[in-house]
Amino acid sequence: MNNEKFEAVPLGNLDEWEDDLLRRYPDPDAIATAKATDEYRNYETPARDTVKEFYRLNHKHQTFDFVLQKRNEFLQFNKREMTVWEAFDFLNQLVDDSDPDTDLDQMQHLLQTSEAIRRDGHPDWMVLVGLMHDMGKVLCLFGEPQWAVVGDTFPVGCAFSDKVIFPEFFSQNPDNTNTAYNSKFGVYEPNCGLRNINMSWGHDEYVYQMLKDYLPEEGLYMLRYHSFYAWHREGGYDHLLDDHDRKMLKWVQLFNPYDLYSKNPEPPDWTKLRPYYEDLVSKYLPSTLKF
Ligand SMILES: [Fe+2]
Ligand SMILES: [Fe+2]
Repeated sequence: MNNEKFEAVPLGNLDEWEDDLLRRYPDPDAIATAKATDEYRNYETPARDTVKEFYRLNHKHQTFDFVLQKRNEFLQFNKREMTVWEAFDFLNQLVDDSDPDTDLDQMQHLLQTSEAIRRDGHPDWMVLVGLMHDMGKVLCLFGEPQWAVVGDTFPVGCAFSDKVIFPEFFSQNPDNTNTAYNSKFGVYEPNCGLRNINMSWGHDEYVYQMLKDYLPEEGLYMLRYHSFYAWHREGGYDHLLDDHDRKMLKWVQLFNPYDLYSKNPEPPDWTKLRPYYEDLVSKYLPSTLKF
């Protein structure tokens, strides 16, 4: 594998990032503490080396300019137009066939998340958020490297926080020594609100932008910030938040356990579920989505 190819796919498959999140946040009831984070940092296994390398690349390459360039490239949504069901088929091409006992495909994770939300009696738009939240991973199928699709997200254009996992790797990011971007507030105003912040580029922002006209605000926060662990789990970045973000935080936190802890080896019975989801999708979404 040449270097560029290796840099694009440090993980054996995309799920390694989410499996690692479960090691960091093993307890559904506990919001992480400094101790848990330290334990994580000291925890070394061969499996974790790929995750570590993945974060090294992510933290090195996610600069302010990189984010602007990707927003410009992908937020035109001029790549493809698909129904939701075609999009699931497309997304499922991400299954890694080099891994024989590979996990369930991407759609199963989405269905298990949405079904867990439905079982608990949450509003139907939140069920739809569960179904759609990782659709942005199609970015990998458009040739994007893993570190520009998944992984924890964080603000760019201001100082990196040590609440972000593997903060030591930010020393390799050129923005870290750029005086325009490395002060506490960088290009932002104090407490300007997350909507005015550019986050590191990945599947969260992409799916948020794709669906922003179709879901209530609480659901949009779930989509947009579900990988922003330094905020919703670690309590960081208060200096950039406004009161609206603080109000929305509980919704992002409500969603997170369904994402992390709904994985089950039993695949949901799609043929039985399909009528419900067809109704749900047609209630909120247009007949095709632009990617
Ligand atoms: Fe995700
Ligand atoms: Fe997910």
